[in-house]
Amino acid sequence: MTEKCPFQADLMNPVKMAEQGLAFDAFRKLRAECPVSLQDSDRGPFWAVTKREHIDFISKNPALFSSSDNLAHPTPGGDEDPEAREIMKQLIINMDPPDHIKFRRVVKNAFTGRAVDELEPMMRDFAKDIIDQIAKKGECEFVSEVAAEMPLFVICALMEMPSEDRQKFSDLVDIMIGMDDPELDVSPEDGQLAAAQLFEIAMGLAANHRANPKEGTVLHALLNGVVEGDNLNEFEFCSFFLILIAGGVETTRTATTHGMRLLMEHPEQLQMLVDNPALIPDAVEEILRFYPSFNYMQRTAREDIKLGDMDIKKGDIVRMFYPSVNHDDEIFGEDAEKFDITRNQRTPNLRNEHRTFGIGQHFCLGSHLARKELNVMFSEIIPRLRNPKLVGQTKNLVSSFIPGIKEMHISFDPE
Ligand code: HEM
Repeated sequence: MTEKCPFQADLMNPVKMAEQGLAFDAFRKLRAECPVSLQDSDRGPFWAVTKREHIDFISKNPALFSSSDNLAHPTPGGDEDPEAREIMKQLIINMDPPDHIKFRRVVKNAFTGRAVDELEPMMRDFAKDIIDQIAKKGECEFVSEVAAEMPLFVICALMEMPSEDRQKFSDLVDIMIGMDDPELDVSPEDGQLAAAQLFEIAMGLAANHRANPKEGTVLHALLNGVVEGDNLNEFEFCSFFLILIAGGVETTRTATTHGMRLLMEHPEQLQMLVDNPALIPDAVEEILRFYPSFNYMQRTAREDIKLGDMDIKKGDIVRMFYPSVNHDDEIFGEDAEKFDITRNQRTPNLRNEHRTFGIGQHFCLGSHLARKELNVMFSEIIPRLRNPKLVGQTKNLVSSFIPGIKEMHISFDPE
């Protein structure tokens, strides 16, 4: 079959996602009625994939489903700009075999569980400083004052960048993800300019590192990385830098913010964490499952192929909706759509069951880092920000790709 699904779910509407959040009702219906379905959008038709078996098949077969042809994500410079698209193709996330694996080797050791464990003492200091800044106030804007800070501090340390410059990173990332948000008023040229500015920063950091080499940082790994006998060239190095900044900042900020929101919405579960902080890793895994930081990633079919009952044609765009998998009752049981921080005790393999970090060749390189940042951050938040409450409403990012929160004001008992 190739015909459109009778249920058109409006999955690519950025305003709708900002107003209503991830489309869990639509995903439930799609999983039941047409798990691989042809959907319409302003930017053309695409296949919406909502079941794990199909997402896994696509992700594990990069020769059939390309990350490069139309990129794995929306183009910051806009779909109509071929130049921006060509630049984006140099990011590891948009590479296909055999290049992809060669480039992944360059930094993969910097992001293993063991390498990330070594960063923990530094992260604990960051977390303490972040909460010290707000604890006495009894209120804060959680996104900028708390959630964004940890990933920015960490990425600055890994890239040998002074942490005083972190706001600059944050602003550039906001421009790159803010294309659909009228409030941010970002033009395609702004998106390209932000990428160019990040390239410039990367070049400056590389020059500093060469003058004053420091081992053990990600920057060191990038500058000394070898692909087919050669070090990364300037452009390859800058591209890597850009994806680590873009991939490492917004995602963890979004997960921390939604985690805090969910805990405030479920005070009885928050209290369990106050009473028993040993449950924090379980809570982090449930936060990741329940509200992923990406709505989808996309691939382009390299040949005609059957997926489920559907005939996908060469060149068709396929979008994998991870949040749908994460709420599937066939995987997580009849309470799959409930937020429950004790789920990890009932589902021992929870971290491998959900698809928040994707699966297959492009599985998130920063998953250990993200989990560690979230664990350390909530270990500091939970005992110190007591009785947290949402003040007013959240201000959400207008995007169909990232369910981001731009502002979330909270109050709590001052320390
Ligand atoms: C909660 C936080 C995060 C989430 C939800 C997340 C999610 C994802 C997902 C779904 C993918 C797969 C893309 C695909 O299959 O097309 C991915 C890839 C990637 N992520 Fe993350 N990510 C997070 C944090 C991070 C961090 C902290 C870093 C690094 C500093 C990072 C770096 C990357 C990179 C480099 C890739 C591309 C890997 C490749 O193509 O081989 N991510 N991420």
